[in-house]
Amino acid sequence: MSPSDRLHKVYRSLGTDTSPQSDIPYLLSQLTLDEKASLIAGADLWTTNPIPRLGIPKLKVSDGPNGARGDQFEGGLTSACFPASVSLAASFDRKLAEKIGQSLAEEAKTKGARVLLGPTVCPHRDPRGGRNFESFSEDPYLAGELASHYIMGLQREGIGATIKHYAVNEQETRRFSIDARVGQRALREIYLKPFEMAIKKADPWAVMTSYNIVNGVHADANQFLLSKVLREQWGFKGLVMSDWGGTNSISQSINAGLDLEMPGPPVHRTRQNVTSAIQSGEILETTLNKRVEAVLRLLQRAGSFDNHEIPSEQAIDRPEHQRLIRKAGAEGMVLLKNEKKILPLDKSTVKSIAMIGLAKQYLGHGGGSASVKSHRKITPYQAFEDCLGSSVELNYAQGARIIKSLPVFGADNVFDDDGVPGFTLRVTRRSDKDGGPSVSNSSTAQLKPFACPGAVTAVMTGTYRPSVDCVEYLAFGCIGKAKLCINEEMVFSQADDSVDVMAFMLGTAAEETKLYEFSAGQEYRIRIECHVDELAKKDVSPISSKMIGFRFGKMLQSDHDADLIPAAVDAAKRSEVAIVFVGHTPAWETEGADRQNMDLPKDGSLDRLIAATAQANPKTIVVNSTGSPITMPWLSQVAAVLQAWFPGQEAGHSIADVIFGVTNPGGKLPVTFPRAITDCPTYANFPGDINNDRVEYAEGTFVGYRHYDSLPDSVLFPFGFGLSYTSFEISGVELSATSLTGVQPVGVTLDVKNTGTVPGSQVVQIYVGAAFVSEIDRPKKTLAGFEKVHLSPGETQKVQIEISPQSLAYWNQDRGTWSVDAGTYMISVATSSLDVSVALPVTVVTPFQLEP
Ligand code: BGC
Repeated sequence: MSPSDRLHKVYRSLGTDTSPQSDIPYLLSQLTLDEKASLIAGADLWTTNPIPRLGIPKLKVSDGPNGARGDQFEGGLTSACFPASVSLAASFDRKLAEKIGQSLAEEAKTKGARVLLGPTVCPHRDPRGGRNFESFSEDPYLAGELASHYIMGLQREGIGATIKHYAVNEQETRRFSIDARVGQRALREIYLKPFEMAIKKADPWAVMTSYNIVNGVHADANQFLLSKVLREQWGFKGLVMSDWGGTNSISQSINAGLDLEMPGPPVHRTRQNVTSAIQSGEILETTLNKRVEAVLRLLQRAGSFDNHEIPSEQAIDRPEHQRLIRKAGAEGMVLLKNEKKILPLDKSTVKSIAMIGLAKQYLGHGGGSASVKSHRKITPYQAFEDCLGSSVELNYAQGARIIKSLPVFGADNVFDDDGVPGFTLRVTRRSDKDGGPSVSNSSTAQLKPFACPGAVTAVMTGTYRPSVDCVEYLAFGCIGKAKLCINEEMVFSQADDSVDVMAFMLGTAAEETKLYEFSAGQEYRIRIECHVDELAKKDVSPISSKMIGFRFGKMLQSDHDADLIPAAVDAAKRSEVAIVFVGHTPAWETEGADRQNMDLPKDGSLDRLIAATAQANPKTIVVNSTGSPITMPWLSQVAAVLQAWFPGQEAGHSIADVIFGVTNPGGKLPVTFPRAITDCPTYANFPGDINNDRVEYAEGTFVGYRHYDSLPDSVLFPFGFGLSYTSFEISGVELSATSLTGVQPVGVTLDVKNTGTVPGSQVVQIYVGAAFVSEIDRPKKTLAGFEKVHLSPGETQKVQIEISPQSLAYWNQDRGTWSVDAGTYMISVATSSLDVSVALPVTVVTPFQLEP
């Protein structure tokens, strides 16, 4: 029997409270300094350290946020892939968010995890943000509401949420070192808001800090964010963990309030480091105890003390999850254009459909830690076949190539130094200066085989003997300084340390590409050398600073440059309707790299494909699978556009359900689609001054529609916009009060009627804005409430929405409180930020303050 079991037994016999909570002071009194140090850092990638002597178990976490991936980045078991948060946000459906949270808990349990690393809530600041898809919206209220419900659903099932990345993490470029400079108003009103709402409303068990610096201080060591705002002002009672490799100090982070360094074994919180910091007085033992206590409390909340077991991972593909994901994916889809009501297609009358572009690709999720090896990967083509059977002719044509990285230079016709197929790879490690040669095959051209701690050089050699004359595109990317020679001639070289180590590791970094002519029967001696002296610490995370590597790819020029458009045009001409599927594979929208612009990949090829298809067939429909806005130079030429986002594992089915009217699209844009990237308020300040590692949030609170509201001409589709197969009417708008004398909510009531012929849903949006000349700069209006209603044809429903006084407030820097000024405010009932049905005034008689 373990000591803690013994203790429980004693307590039980005394009839005293045996709840684990009461054990924390006892455990703290028993722990040695070494043991305390071990508790505040991870054991490995996904678990915390146990202390068997005291019956303290270990706990496993898993990514998050749209699935529970388990402990393998690649090659692990399959998992359910739920819609990305941007898709969920487009549903504007709190209940759906809760249901997804609940199902994610079931998934997390199949992977033995008690805490999920999600949701991601940082506002979308710029369409180029690589991780926007993983997060909800440009609007903090919408993000805060849906994140809260997701968390409530998850935690109700006994799995903890980790809201991330706290804070001001709106870009991937130089994410470990960028200093995000943001004013106090924008910080409180936009960037901290979703965290504040979710923490107060849903009490997530954990918070994950961001990698970046916020106003000069690393997020993981930011006393203001972690102690003052999070704990003192918002009353957060959970655990704060660092992002993976995002702990940057020993005492500073412990003193600031970071409870857990992840992953393990730790870079900073080694037992020795923590002990000496205590001995030198840099950390007080009472402070260390607080960090330990947070870890113990998390173990308690997660039920780990009651059941120490971390079950083995399983892949359980539940039919009820398949159904939920299919429905949720379709609910999030936004119909942007539907000329002459071309959609929904009637599957009983349509004879032929051209399936063009990415029709045979599964675009269910974005890239990076949010990617999931999905149980199912339903492509549109497969779903259309399933739903149409053989009665409709499907004419498929790829039409464009959008590969981001060329396929790895394989082992075909390549011989190593001993004449055996493959390359020879020699890695020298710091601890092993004479590291012997190791031979491996094509996969050695990727990072992993020599991404080992302390590696300082890697040399890869091989002889290529092509069997035919050919011209190939060669592509090269690396971490560290590197060069690639063919027959002693330098073909590629990189003199500086890699710009974006993380993007490289995720396989999404831009590569240099060149054409090279090979002749049959000739020998080409390939030599790649890569070395790292000392990677500039500021460029990389502590994890990646230990790695070097390169990637070498090739592709036949004839394949790469082949014009695929004629076949697509032919398919479009032969078909009654043409659907062009476009969007981003995980390589194009991912953690670790921001997008370069707002255009579809690659180099305009998908845009050209759409334009050519539309010219060939006037009934051209575009289905776009991206997590962020795109430019649409072809918009006027096509009949319909459906924004599908990343809808999860049933992607194809969700799309087919909307196309054929099984589901009436009720999704609304959670982000504005501007006409051009130059229209964005952040255009000049994204990703910032990367040479000096600084990004100014110069647009202040004017993010998304808060900016575009004054510049409607720059908007292609506004925030909150989405068409339906039916129509709605809003009437009878009334406010519960026309003047406010104190801190009280305002009730808005109205009727919504489905005036069309099919069932459908409408999202009623309530915005508030000051109607008086204000001393401070204010957006015209901000979202303060919403409600989604499902209505049958002819049905009318009364909707009641309560507007909190908080939504009239701005952050008053001088007072350090939320202030509501006296004056008249307009309460707008709308169906998008630019489509207001009715606006009614409410007057605040006396100004008031709200505590943070
Ligand atoms: C990401 C986190 C993720 C962690 C573990 C980091 O790179 O930023 O969101 O939870 O890795 O995979």
